[in-house]
Order: sequence, then C-alpha cells, then structure tokens
Amino acid sequence: MAKVTKVVVPVAGYGTRFLPATKATPKEMLPVVDKPAIQYVVEEAVAAGLSDVLFITGRSKRALEDHFDSSPELEAELSKQNKDELIKKVKDPADLANIHFVRQGTPQGLGHAVFMAKQHVGHEPFAVLLGDDLIDPRDYVLKKMFEVQENFGGSVVLLMEVKPEEIHLYGSAQVEKTNDDAVVKVVDLVEKPNQKDAPSNYAVIGRYLFNPKVFEVLEKTKPGKNGEIQLTDAMKTLAKDISPAEGGGLHAVIFKGRRYDTGDKLSYLQSVVQLAVEREDLGPEFKKWLKKFTGELGN
Ligand code: G1P
Repeated sequence: MAKVTKVVVPVAGYGTRFLPATKATPKEMLPVVDKPAIQYVVEEAVAAGLSDVLFITGRSKRALEDHFDSSPELEAELSKQNKDELIKKVKDPADLANIHFVRQGTPQGLGHAVFMAKQHVGHEPFAVLLGDDLIDPRDYVLKKMFEVQENFGGSVVLLMEVKPEEIHLYGSAQVEKTNDDAVVKVVDLVEKPNQKDAPSNYAVIGRYLFNPKVFEVLEKTKPGKNGEIQLTDAMKTLAKDISPAEGGGLHAVIFKGRRYDTGDKLSYLQSVVQLAVEREDLGPEFKKWLKKFTGELGN
C-alpha cells in the first residue's frame, strides 16, 4: 500500500461552545499555553511524517491562514531588534509543512468536509486529524495506526474508552478482539447515540487513516444525525458492506494516553494546565504556584 503523506484537517466549525471568544477568532486559534491548539495538531502530523496538510476551512478562518503563512513585517521588526528566538517562533508554523486550503462553502457535516479533500488526495490512503482533539505530544499514536493499516489494510480509526454518560458526544463502535490487545476490528458504528443505544463505551477520537475508497462511500452517504453527512456513517459502510479486496474493512487502535478536547471548556483548561506544567520555562514556577493554590482551595 502507498505510504501516507497527506493529512486532511477539517476546521470549518463555528466553535459556539467558546463564544464570545470565538465570535471573531477561529476556535482552532485559541492558545494552549502560547501556541494555538491547531499548531499542536499540525506538529503531531509532521512528527508522523505527514508533510502535506490540507485544511478544509470556511468563512471567518482568515487568522488560521495567516498563522501558517510567513509574516515579513513582523520578522523584519524582530530582526531589527535581534530577537532570533522570537523570529523562529514566528517562522515555525509556516515552515512546518506544505499547507493547502479548500473552502467548504456550506458546511454539511464532517463527512462532507472530508469529501472536499477528494481532488487533493487522489487515490492514495490519507489521514484525517480533527482540530478539537489534542493528543499530548508524549502520547502520539499515529505511527501505531500506520502499523495497523499495514497489517490489516483498509482504514484505521482511534478509539478511547469514555464514561457511559459521555458516549452521546462521540461516535460509538462495536468491536471484536484481534491478536493484539491494543487493536480491535470495528464491526459497527453509531454517531452520537443515546447512552442506552450505544454499542459500547469505545468513542471515536479524531484520528483516522482512510483507504481512498472512503470518497466513493461519502459521495453516496445520506445525511444522518442532525441532518449532516456523517463521517461515522461512511466508516460504518466501510466496516460492514465493503470487502477488504475493494478497500473496505476498519480496525481501531485503543488509545490509553492523554487527550484533551479543546472544544470543551473544562478539558481545554486541563490541557493548558497539564502542558504548562511540563514546560521547562514555565513548569517549575507554575507547579509551585499550583500546589499552593490547590492547597488553599482545600477540598
Ligand atoms: C466528531 C465526530 C465523532 C467523533 C468526535 C471526536 O464529532 O463526528 O464521531 O467521536 O468528532 O472528537 P464533533 O466532536 O465534531 O461533534
């Protein structure tokens, strides 16, 4: 199978959970410590060798385009002041990868957003990374997903066990064991089910490796949950109705690492604290303060 080099990152969502912060700023640009959340996602892709990044954007996402572009005036100003370290910080996002953009026009769901990548991706397998899911850099998992794709073919998704009362926020998968404890075969999927209808507490996390067959499937996928074309429904078809010989089949890696939903306020705050604590420049001082502060909070 061809090596995966392209990654699709849908970023056309409105970010209503973070209003008013997201009124004029894309939610993906909210900082986690001092980097926009979306930069962590691109860094994760690049660390796994994916250097061709296609953003599926929409209206009001200009700041995101500017972030991954060069900024000659700012660089010139910093250069006058000999601030080399800051120049690097300004240049890094633009130098990280080959960034491309496609606009979604009228957003019709995540499945529709991924379908917009068809022409750019062509007939190669590719990755999809969702901007809201931030995987802690210490727990990167894409390389393990590549291994699974090599061993089993078809497509691969990331699953994580969540509390039963949280499964309605995610795609939920029915799975069967394989010889590898960390890998399962996906036999069915439901997008955001009620707790009582969920096939399991295994939730889809926004990391996917797709066989290009998914484009054919998406083209025929009818609107599902919330009247949107759901990626989960297309994955269900790949898992259930298409033979491995035709590019079907779906396996999953079970993730046990640290993952934050930066689209959720509580999880966003946790991501900021956890990543700040690990930082060499901020960690020691911040930890000292945090201990004192939590002590003052008591129980
Ligand atoms: C999307 C997917 C869902 C998945 C989730 C992971 O939902 O539709 O299947 O579990 O991402 O973050 P969203 O959170 O965009 O509503």
